[in-house]
Formats: sequence, C-alpha cells, structure tokens
Amino acid sequence: MNGIRFDHVWKLFEGNVVVSDLTLDIREGEFLVLVGPSGCGKTTSLRMLAGLERPSHGRIWMGNKDVTDLEVGERDISMVFQSYALYPNMTVKKNLAFGPKVRKEPRQNLDKRINDVADLLGIRHLLDRAPSALSGGQRQRVALGRALIREPQLFLMDEPLSNLDAALRVQMRAELIRLHNRLESTTTVYVTHDQVEALTMGDRVAVLKDGLLLQVDTANDLYEYPETVFVGEFIGSPKMNVVPGTLDVTGGVASVTCLGVTTTLSAQLAGRLEGAAVNGPVLVGVRAHDLHLAKGRPDESGAVTGLVDITEHTGTEVFATIDVADLKVIARLPRTPLPQHGQAVQLAFNPERVLLFDPESKKSLLGRNSSRERISAR
Ligand SMILES: Nc1ncnc2c1ncn2[C@@H]1O[C@H](COP(=O)(O)OP(=O)(O)O)[C@@H](O)[C@H]1O
Ligand SMILES: [Mg+2]
Repeated sequence: MNGIRFDHVWKLFEGNVVVSDLTLDIREGEFLVLVGPSGCGKTTSLRMLAGLERPSHGRIWMGNKDVTDLEVGERDISMVFQSYALYPNMTVKKNLAFGPKVRKEPRQNLDKRINDVADLLGIRHLLDRAPSALSGGQRQRVALGRALIREPQLFLMDEPLSNLDAALRVQMRAELIRLHNRLESTTTVYVTHDQVEALTMGDRVAVLKDGLLLQVDTANDLYEYPETVFVGEFIGSPKMNVVPGTLDVTGGVASVTCLGVTTTLSAQLAGRLEGAAVNGPVLVGVRAHDLHLAKGRPDESGAVTGLVDITEHTGTEVFATIDVADLKVIARLPRTPLPQHGQAVQLAFNPERVLLFDPESKKSLLGRNSSRERISAR
C-alpha cells in the first residue's frame, strides 16, 4: 500500500463545510490518531477514507492508487465504529466468524483465530452468548473482535473504546498498541476526542478543529511545540494557562512580563523566538508543571503572589487553582504541606518553558530549534 494521502479533501453537508482542505500523509505501518473536540470532522474524515462518504472535492490515495471513487469493499480495510451493530441472532462466536466466512477465507485455523481474538479481548467465556445477553462494554469488545480477526492493510477505528469503563479502556489501549505493533505493515487510523488516548496511542497525532487540521506531530512535539493556542490548551492536562503579557527583547535578552512580574527567558528559549516576534503584547502559555512555588533561588527572576482557591489531588500530584490579580491560574504544588484554601503563595515561572503566542493570530512565536546565530544576530 505505501501510505495514505488526503489531498486537499473537502466535505460539505448541505453547504456547510465539515472538512476543510484536509491534506494529510499517513505513513505505512503508522498508528495515526485524529483528535479534536466533538463535531470537528473526525468521523467524516474516517468515513471518507473508508469509502462510506465521498469527498466533495479533493482526492484520497492509498499508495499510488487513487481510491476516491472506490467502494468500501474495494479497499482492504477493517473498521470499528462508534456505533456498531452485531448480528442479534448470532452468538458472539458466529459474529466473529461471519467476516472470514463471507470473505471465503480458509476454515482451518478459524477456531484458533477466534479464540486468540477472544482471549485478547477477554471475551472467551462469552463466545456462546447472544449479543442481547452482553453489557455495552462487552458488545463493544465483540465489535472490536470482528475487526481484529482480519489482518488488513488498514485499520480504521472510531472511538472504539468509548463504551468501556476506565480500567478496561486503559487495558485495551495497551492491547491495541501491542496488536498494531505485531501487525507490522498494518496502518491504523484511530479517531478519538480524548487527548490522553491520542497522546498515549499515536505514533503521530493530528489535531482537528472546526474541520481544519491544525497540527500533526508526535505526542511529545505537540506538547512541547504547540503551533497555536488551541493545540497548547487541548493537549496536556491540566489545561495550559494562557495569560496576557508583554514581550521585551533587548540586546539579545528576552523577557516577558505577565501577572505583574517580569521573567527573563533562558537564552535557549529566547533563541527560538521567530524573526517576526517583536516587542509588545503577547499571550503567554504556561503549563501547571512549569509554574511552581518560588523558592527564592537566585535564578528566579520574580515571583507572583496569589491566593489558593481550590486544590486537586491526583494521587501523585497536587494542582491548585490560584487567584492572581483578576485571573485564575493552575499550578503544580508540593503535596506536603498541602496548601490550604485562602493561603497566599509565591509562584515562579520556569524561564525555560514559557510558550509565547501572537495575541491576534493565536499562533506560536517560537520556532522549534534554538540557534545561537539568531541570538547573536539581534
Ligand atoms: N450526514 C450528515 N449530514 C449533515 N451533517 C453531518 C452529517 N454527518 C456529520 N455532519 C456534521 O458534520 C460535522 C462533523 O461531524 P463528525 O465528522 O461526526 O464530527 P466528529 O466525529 O469530530 O465529532 C458535525 O457538525 C455534524 O453535525
Ligand atoms: Mg465522531
């Protein structure tokens, strides 16, 4: 197959643009996740790839074959969709065996394949049951099983774990990744609205918003180098703080003033400022993990005073919502002593890990690579 290409693909429903000029290359063997808020066009994009929906404009390629006009059955794909239907009058086992029989695949080994898939999904004990005697989560696993019993070139999955409880979802996440890794040349396109699922599963993650592809990157690069405020806020938990500030670059030294304090950026970070970055208003993105209690260390440029509103214990970490001036920010705080509601705290930014965005375009002002040349050129 050799990869998939969405080439300037548009989809309109009754004149409304649902997918807007989507150009995306998916590599052969890759696990690519499409993520974004509900209604952003994920399912529609996947359905176009499956052949269930025709693009309004643009082409879809699988390797060097234009598949835009091919029917579902003419594409070597296996799908699991959010809304799935099992054959109600067939047992789980017959549901699993149905696809291979229709495709007239050799019978030998079929029992073993069914058992292997059933073991993988933890439904071996349910093989003789009718779908009506299964819970929602169990039905979803049978639906997954029907897709997994094939070893297609392309797996398409649309929120296949959404009906599972939290523990099973985490377990299935790992199983699907293992499975993908085992089927070396199989490409998987996986849709979810859950950024945690996207980050944990995807070789690369494509972030969509309102039908627009905003960024495609590895989980790490999305987190480190969000190209827009939206991606910065969407990726990572707790949500990134975004506060108005002012950038000042003088003699190669960059500092940012926000929340009433001025922080001198590390030379490395300053070196990533794009040529277009000018002194003036910016949006400052700071993740909770990069906003911490000031310790009065000499390398700390300044500290912000705030009042603790609420604290949230996640088990390993404590995040506090803190009132600073008229804003609320979230910071990671030490677990002991646990800060109390109403307590005044001094916060400092990590000067190496501030994100800067243009307040108008909401685009990042930082490039990915620091270059000494850039600093000395100033
Ligand atoms: N068959 C359809 N007819 C009209 N509008 C549709 C149809 N399918 C999807 N839409 C609309 O397209 C938008 C994107 O839908 P969808 O691709 O399902 O989003 P997602 O999967 O990201 O939640 C939504 O506004 C949805 O209401
Ligand atoms: Mg959807």
